[in-house]
Amino acid sequence: MKNYREYFNKKLEEILTQYDTPVWIAEGMQYACLQGGKRIRPQLLFMTLSLLEQDLDLGFPFAAALEMIHSYSLVHDDLPAMDNDEYRRGQLTTHKKFGEANAILIGDALLTNAFSVMVRGSIGKVSSEKILEIVALFSEYAGVGGMIGGQAMDVAYEGRSTSYTTVRFIHEHKTGKLLLLPILVACILGDASLEQRNALEIYGRKIGLAFQIKDDILDVEGSFAQMGKAVKSDEKLKKSTYPSIFGVEKSKEMLAESLREARMALKEVFPKEALQEFLELTEFMEKRTR
Ligand code: IPE
Ligand code: IPE
Ligand code: MG
Ligand code: MG
Ligand code: MG
Repeated sequence: MKNYREYFNKKLEEILTQYDTPVWIAEGMQYACLQGGKRIRPQLLFMTLSLLEQDLDLGFPFAAALEMIHSYSLVHDDLPAMDNDEYRRGQLTTHKKFGEANAILIGDALLTNAFSVMVRGSIGKVSSEKILEIVALFSEYAGVGGMIGGQAMDVAYEGRSTSYTTVRFIHEHKTGKLLLLPILVACILGDASLEQRNALEIYGRKIGLAFQIKDDILDVEGSFAQMGKAVKSDEKLKKSTYPSIFGVEKSKEMLAESLREARMALKEVFPKEALQEFLELTEFMEKRTR
């Protein structure tokens, strides 16, 4: 997977350097996508394709598009009107570097062009029917019923007391949807059986929630040096987070529980030997420091 990450980064750079005008928007798109980033979402797509014994090359256009959309969500998330952050992936946020109006447009461009990247990159290699289904899924999971819906609730619940149901909704949407998406895309590309798809979908939901619980925990006890973004920012903005409701220790238990459920779902359907990367990823999700 490490080699694939390097290969993926090279491909993504090729895609993003094809845009040249207006030059500051093109540069901003590269700035927002190419510096750092753990590439978890592309990794999930490739891991699932590999589990389903598919050609990994089929996944590139979709993985690149997803990373563009994820990066756009970060550019907008950092804006003064949202989380007002100055650092991301160890460098100035896109609006600090390019100005606010340009950062909005750079995000818009990443989102909009992502659709052309996935369609043009897979025409002739993937059936039109599958491409259409995946395009619809991208739109739904990134849109108001997905990441945007979660972000809207995240903003609406700043400074308000929150219920467990609400914070869970926020996390499953603002973050969970874009972690589940690559798994479902791979299921479509790889013609997963209903049983395989159901198990993978549970895994995706559980790790998606877990990923944001860990992000909340790292905001409390992580470091800027390791994460490349500000810590203690949720407390400052009075965000609705797992630690704010349950405290850090209980949040860690809930994180571990979600990951345990994720592993269990896959073990019921796939042979353990095929699951090494999936099991390692849940370990990373629990222990990561960045
Ligand atoms: C950060 O996502 C925002 C969340 C949804 C928690 P990542 O932690 O995947 O950020 P990068 O891509 O590695 O910078
Ligand atoms: C971000 O959640 C979710 C997105 C959809 C971008 P956060 O606001 O907690 O992410 P960070 O901590 O800024 O990366
Ligand atoms: Mg936010
Ligand atoms: Mg933020
Ligand atoms: Mg956070």
